Amino acid sequence: MSLVTQEPLEIAPQLAALVNEFQLPKPLGFGQAMAPIMATMDYCDGVWSDLSLKKYEPLSLDPACKSLHYGQLIFEGMKAFRLVDGRVALFRPELNSRRFNASARRMAMPELPEELFMQAVMSLSYHLRHAVPKGDGESLYLRPLMLATDVGLSLKPASTYKFLVIASPSGAYFASGKVTALIERHDCRAAPGGTGAFKVAGNYGSSIRADIKATSLKCQQTLWLDAVEKSYVEEFSGMNFFAVIDGELWTPPLSDSILGGVTRDSVIKLAEGLGVKVHEQPIHIDDLISAIKAGQCRELFACGTAAVISPVHALAERDGTLHELTNLKTEESLSLALRRELVAVQTGAKLTAGDWVKPVSQMPC
Ligand code: COI
Repeated sequence: MSLVTQEPLEIAPQLAALVNEFQLPKPLGFGQAMAPIMATMDYCDGVWSDLSLKKYEPLSLDPACKSLHYGQLIFEGMKAFRLVDGRVALFRPELNSRRFNASARRMAMPELPEELFMQAVMSLSYHLRHAVPKGDGESLYLRPLMLATDVGLSLKPASTYKFLVIASPSGAYFASGKVTALIERHDCRAAPGGTGAFKVAGNYGSSIRADIKATSLKCQQTLWLDAVEKSYVEEFSGMNFFAVIDGELWTPPLSDSILGGVTRDSVIKLAEGLGVKVHEQPIHIDDLISAIKAGQCRELFACGTAAVISPVHALAERDGTLHELTNLKTEESLSLALRRELVAVQTGAKLTAGDWVKPVSQMPC
């Protein structure tokens, strides 16, 4: 395990006092309680200002700023974990930095040098190290984001932007263990050549209507199909899709309409390490349903930073038809084995070949 190389930013005494007073909420929930400090930096005419830590408070934005009108708004999702030795570490943070810059390029926004991104997430995690929860499935969820702040209604690239990292001590994303996903056969999440492969706020906003429909049908998630043929599985609203078919792992190949998840990549590598064959192949929804009916597909799961690995127990249609998966014993479940493996790596209980876990300090905290 190699430490994040930069020194953490200094913190002002009044901010340190706010951090000391901060109590973990009970229950934790996901993304509900915000830590009292955030990292922030501004961009103007080609130059990033100095990165600083500030009190968490509302932003002052001009009502005519371009992010509010034209959606130049990108973000990341990542976590600081409590390691088994008591230290706090980030998990593959350089992948988030690269994806953030890929999103920035797609949205004609300025890139952020990797060392600045790392210093922001590392400094915030370091100063909030006592607010990283210790429970099973708990962590400090970090949300880096960038938005255009230029004032004006012409549809032109902005020249001023704000970068922020906020943090929220969080537990499981899905409050109840049982997840049913509604197959969305009408709306589409992302089209070829669009922004689906990037962490652009609008992708998530446009999924909400389908999620409302899903909730009304007692489903916890939406399963999106491709925009052209409305036949091939793409992903869930905020997570990648995996199926276990005849003991092998299947996931759609990355494309310009599927987000390349850090957890997706980690799951593939961990599964291969366990000797499981992984197919990154198109999955036709009819073939998937047939495999569920035939008992060949016995597990589905959603994976992502927030969701970790969350088993999906059934797929649903709008008319109420349910395609239910067989109930497996814990020891038969590949998704639970992969979840255990992933959590063991993220908490430093198990070392991987890659340098995936980056402690933010030498000492337990
Ligand atoms: C994440 O997993 O970090 C995301 O950004 C997904 C979001 C729906 C919580």
